[in-house]
Amino acid sequence: MRAWINGNLLPDPSAPAVGVTDHGLTVGDGVFEAIKVVAGRPFALTLHLERLARSARGLGLPDVDQAAVRRGVAAVLDDHALPLGRLRITYTGGPSPLGSGRGDAAPTLVVVADAMGAWPETTAVATVPWPRNERGALAGLKTTSYAENVVALAEAAKVGASEAIFANLAGHLCEGTGSNVFYVVDGELRTPSLASGCLAGVTRRLVLEWYGGREVDEPIETVDRASEVFLVSTTRDVQGVARWDDVELPAPGPVTRKVAELWREREPELLGPD
Ligand SMILES: Cc1ncc(COP(=O)(O)O)c(C=O)c1O
Repeated sequence: MRAWINGNLLPDPSAPAVGVTDHGLTVGDGVFEAIKVVAGRPFALTLHLERLARSARGLGLPDVDQAAVRRGVAAVLDDHALPLGRLRITYTGGPSPLGSGRGDAAPTLVVVADAMGAWPETTAVATVPWPRNERGALAGLKTTSYAENVVALAEAAKVGASEAIFANLAGHLCEGTGSNVFYVVDGELRTPSLASGCLAGVTRRLVLEWYGGREVDEPIETVDRASEVFLVSTTRDVQGVARWDDVELPAPGPVTRKVAELWREREPELLGPD
């Protein structure tokens, strides 16, 4: 692992580096990005930096210094030694008073690079009972207030699932804790629209652009009629769902296979430096 904070590469990436009053630590006042690294090169860096900027704006944080982030990325990827890994960029309110109000200190900017393994081709998912709030202040933002996802994932793990799926307050399918959902009904590939409150996933966007699919918000029960389902995310790429709660699904199904194949073909187009 390599870590960079506020302009400096840490000699020891596991050494303490963030202050105890950092608002990201005390109240989850921060935003982040996870970016895939292939052969030392970041995937879709610009799209991720655009979303980081949108998330920061949504939280009312000062504008992200994009040049500084890029310097951090270059510093942690310097020797291009990572065959497969991920970058984690975290940007927080910085040192602040102990309450929810933010202080006037400069934000904290951290970039970390670490190795990662590839996910299997298929997985199991479980619906969790808590709704995503598509009307909340944080809807659609990638914030460090992710404890709800931690709880949901732990619940999914109890039934042997690797991802938890949320409906939203309207009862519509929304997303996973760290992935977007695609499903095929009546031969049509569908995914929830951004109005569902799901994150505007970079993988979701590229699958829609490269393969197509209809953005539609409908009751989560519609998925009971799906002939196949797959998850998409930075770490999973395109991953077939073989079991959703108690329902077994063919996975990877024919559409999933085509999308995964297309993904493998086109991924190199967006490998960095940019
Ligand atoms: C809540 C949530 N939804 C969806 C995604 C998928 O987004 P991306 O494809 O940009 O990784 C993520 C990414 O981690 C996420 O945290």
